[in-house]
Amino acid sequence: MSSVFGVFKRVYAAFISPPRPPNVEDNNASPPLRIGILGAAAIAPPALVLPAKSHPEVELYAIAARNISRAENFAKKHGFKKWYGGKDGYQVLLNDPAIDIVYNPLPNGLHYEWTMKALAAGKHVLLEKPSGNTAEETRRMFSLADQKGLVLLEAFHYRFHPAIQRVRAIIDSGELGAIKEVNATLAFPNLGLIGNNDIRMNYDLGGGAMMDCGCYPLSCVRYLAFDNPSAVISATAVRYPRDPRIDTGTTAKLTFASPTPGFLPRWPEISVRAICERGSIEMFNFVMPVIYHSITVAPDGGVTRTEKAEEWWSTYRYQLEAFVDKIKGRTPQTWMSAEDSIANMEWVEKIYEESGLGSRPQSTYVHPTAS
Ligand SMILES: *[C@@H]1O[C@H](CO)[C@@H](O)[C@H](O)[C@H]1NC(C)=O
Ligand SMILES: *[C@@H]1O[C@H](CO)[C@@H](O)[C@H](O)[C@H]1NC(C)=O
Repeated sequence: MSSVFGVFKRVYAAFISPPRPPNVEDNNASPPLRIGILGAAAIAPPALVLPAKSHPEVELYAIAARNISRAENFAKKHGFKKWYGGKDGYQVLLNDPAIDIVYNPLPNGLHYEWTMKALAAGKHVLLEKPSGNTAEETRRMFSLADQKGLVLLEAFHYRFHPAIQRVRAIIDSGELGAIKEVNATLAFPNLGLIGNNDIRMNYDLGGGAMMDCGCYPLSCVRYLAFDNPSAVISATAVRYPRDPRIDTGTTAKLTFASPTPGFLPRWPEISVRAICERGSIEMFNFVMPVIYHSITVAPDGGVTRTEKAEEWWSTYRYQLEAFVDKIKGRTPQTWMSAEDSIANMEWVEKIYEESGLGSRPQSTYVHPTAS
């Protein structure tokens, strides 16, 4: 068990002062990739700003927010050179030819419009999860990225961390036999942090717990099963009293062609557990493993062991490493493909359909080159 100090040290190392990668030579030959961020979102500092500080090949360059004072404060606090605001602020940022990478952490309902515009402007895009409001939006974004030869990545950062990769490797090794069932959960206690005006409670902006949280366990179960589900057996949503189209929690059971996992968000947990033919494996905290995680492997009739990936980088730092590798034409240690992002969105929609709440509304934005 880590001591409180140990946890603190890991959090400090991961989010405040991540160690520099050991084998990266400072490459003076090419200028750093310049990053522009759309919106002064709370997720931006842990997800990209801090990881970028220890990456020698990127530069924090510009931020746009509707409120220019917010953009300016954010820029000054985090060391960005430029800031843009006002109603055209996002587009002005996209028009800046110095920017190579755009990070899009806008509300889900704006992912499609601003990712299409960023790709049209020739930028690589790191896009927050879930990628869109609908799988159709996701398909169109990846199709445009493909046409333009640009890198588009849905920020499922947990995939890039060695801890979840270890869990998958143990399952893949056959030690425990085939998976029979998987439970994955991501839920936060409501500490009054999510108010009625929160974007996550706004249907038009792509709100709902299945969008905000549920996309993670869904993605994780698909990852560990090496497959997509074949059907939604059941899905039940706890509806938000002020807007019954919004779920404050969703539980779903899925079936897979072979074998047959399912996933079941419970509360309050951040874990994934797979029951296999000859034992079980559980990972606690697959989403933020750098803070604390544990992997428990229990072979039937054998000795239960606990593993831990001793890694100092956050999931976000690993993700940025892979994203930059891809842009630079190097082979990233792992990747989240277009097909994977599209499938995840398809199953988010199917779960919403089964729960009776229906898909989130498709963006009304019509892209000039999109049919
Ligand atoms: C703009 O942001 C500043 C700084 O955060 C804040 O004081 C001000 O109230 C905001 N203005 C509007 C119109 O929201
Ligand atoms: C998943 O959760 C359900 C309900 O809590 C439980 O019955 C089942 O045994 C769990 N399966 C695994 C693999 O943890």
